[in-house]
Amino acid sequence: MAAYDETKIRALGLNPQGIPKHVAIIMDGNGRWAKNRRLPRSAGHRAGTDRLRGIIRLSSDLGIASLTLYAFSTENWKRPSDEVGTLMGLLIEYFTNEIDELHENNVRIQIIGAYEGLPAGPRAAVERAMKRTEANTGLNLNIALNYGSRAELVRAVRVLSKKAVSGELLPQEIDEALLFDCLYTKGLPQLDLVIRTGGEMRLSNFMLLQAAYAELYFTDTYWPDFNEKKYIEALKEFQRRDRRYGTVK
Ligand code: IPE
Ligand code: IPE
Ligand code: MG
Repeated sequence: MAAYDETKIRALGLNPQGIPKHVAIIMDGNGRWAKNRRLPRSAGHRAGTDRLRGIIRLSSDLGIASLTLYAFSTENWKRPSDEVGTLMGLLIEYFTNEIDELHENNVRIQIIGAYEGLPAGPRAAVERAMKRTEANTGLNLNIALNYGSRAELVRAVRVLSKKAVSGELLPQEIDEALLFDCLYTKGLPQLDLVIRTGGEMRLSNFMLLQAAYAELYFTDTYWPDFNEKKYIEALKEFQRRDRRYGTVK
């Protein structure tokens, strides 16, 4: 449910009827933001975390149903261990500090990705956050943690092949709907918009199948500088796109 009425949404330059249902953000550029300021990469990650509140709040106020944030990929384990440690520490801190406000704002937290593969501390923090907010009916906030599209697909194939081997399912019964039900995003609205900050024009193993017909928006702005105004710019650009899904008008 939008906290902003249509007049307020229009005043921001957005069409209330064209608000995307599901937005995903690849929050990239923390390291370069810090480097530009001669700060350690960890300072960039902290500044990035500070951006979350405003973006989540605005998503909720605009009535976006689902917001998915790429926070840690299956490939990010290859970073130096002190950086991985910083990110895991920030995760614990984030959920500890923000959970009350998220809960008050009726946000429902879900994790996409193999979060059971996280160290005990961050795993416990995300499990607590999911449990506490599971009955909430506002914004679906999906945090992608230890997430990779390829691993997600392998997991889905394993589930389906197990069913096929046990006779529960015939191979010819497997269709797109069954496959999509085996992805972490089961039950979420179709992905409308992927935003990537930080200047790279790639998906880096993020929601490859879900993004099949999503609009892609790339900006050079580093994630710690991506404020609500820039988010609204991205949403305006989304509303200018002509989504044809392969058909003609
Ligand atoms: C994104 O910022 C945060 C994570 C991947 C966890 P980066 O740390 O990738 O920042 P750059 O790309 O090095 O600037
Ligand atoms: C993608 O950013 C992952 C996250 C934002 C969590 P990366 O910085 O890891 O991606 P690459 O290495 O530039 O492809
Ligand atoms: Mg990066």
